Amino acid sequence: MALFDIIAGFVNAQVLMALIELRILQHLQWGPLSSDFLADRCAVPSDRMHILLQAGAGLGLLRRRRDGRFDLSLRGASLLGVPGLPAMILHHRALYSDLADPVAFLRNGKGTELAQFWPYVFGADGAKDPQVTATYSDLMADSQVLVAEDVLRMVSLSGVKRLMDVGGGTGAFLAAVGTAHPALQMDLFDLPAVLAGADRRLAQAGLSERVRLHPGSFRDDPLPKGADAVSLIRVLYDHDDSTVTHLLQSVHASLQAGGRLIIAEPMSGGATPNRATDVYYAIYTMAMQTGRTRSPEEIAALLAATGYTNICIKTGFRPFVTSVVTAIRA
Ligand SMILES: C[S@@+](CC[C@H](N)C(=O)[O-])C[C@H]1O[C@@H](n2cnc3c(N)ncnc32)[C@H](O)[C@@H]1O
Repeated sequence: MALFDIIAGFVNAQVLMALIELRILQHLQWGPLSSDFLADRCAVPSDRMHILLQAGAGLGLLRRRRDGRFDLSLRGASLLGVPGLPAMILHHRALYSDLADPVAFLRNGKGTELAQFWPYVFGADGAKDPQVTATYSDLMADSQVLVAEDVLRMVSLSGVKRLMDVGGGTGAFLAAVGTAHPALQMDLFDLPAVLAGADRRLAQAGLSERVRLHPGSFRDDPLPKGADAVSLIRVLYDHDDSTVTHLLQSVHASLQAGGRLIIAEPMSGGATPNRATDVYYAIYTMAMQTGRTRSPEEIAALLAATGYTNICIKTGFRPFVTSVVTAIRA
């Protein structure tokens, strides 16, 4: 990666934020528009709007036509087409604000805006406001499609009769797995305020009869028994090692001997650092304050220390989406 691209990264991101916040992509979905029209619509001076649109075209999100008007490129249109993606992009405002003084952030990363944005990581008390809970559950569920796709490609569920997804949000992962495996029975465990949003999603997927809901906190409550496989999808990286160890022990206690554990989340490259996870996710989870981005080897070590065997690392083909570690309860 060229040094210039590293330096320019922040500016690129701010251009993207402005295009989304001003709803430029939405305005352009009906056809090309002039910068004067958009300037008027968005209450931005015309010369500045022109520079923004030109920058959007430079990023490949817009196209500049011969007549000087702008319209959506394929990339801009596909960004609009992914449910929840604009909201997911906009929530980075909190992270950028935390990183405005990176040295201060590194020296004393307390009280970050990002931690306020994701209050559930502090436990059940953090997930009481229904509005806040619905916002983060939707953001998570919208980005779950790619994760489920990759996990289902990397992990075989053959022989599994009942899968329990712990920290499974409103059931987006189980909806994907349940559709791919029509005979599978499922359990969904998450905080009570989060599970309040699960009924609708599971009913829409036609899975209400096949998924049992278990409201609770894995910090305080035992996990229900009966599943022969447990998944932890994008859960560990939110938590410190002591919470993760406690959670791995609870999963161990809930499984029969031979039961499977599937852990999927973006993981550090470890000895071979990579840009997606060792830059973005590592800094992101640091700003969240409670967890960290672990390498598959670090997760494997926590699993081994908790008594799991047959630990198997599967590096993701899209590491920014997920990698996978699986293990067996001895
Ligand atoms: C990053 S989200 C991932 C959700 C889902 N697995 C996914 O990948 O879309 C983490 C999930 O863990 C849940 N969680 C956090 N702390 C929890 C706790 N103490 N007990 C149960 N669930 C918890 C959150 O409510 C949230 O749904």
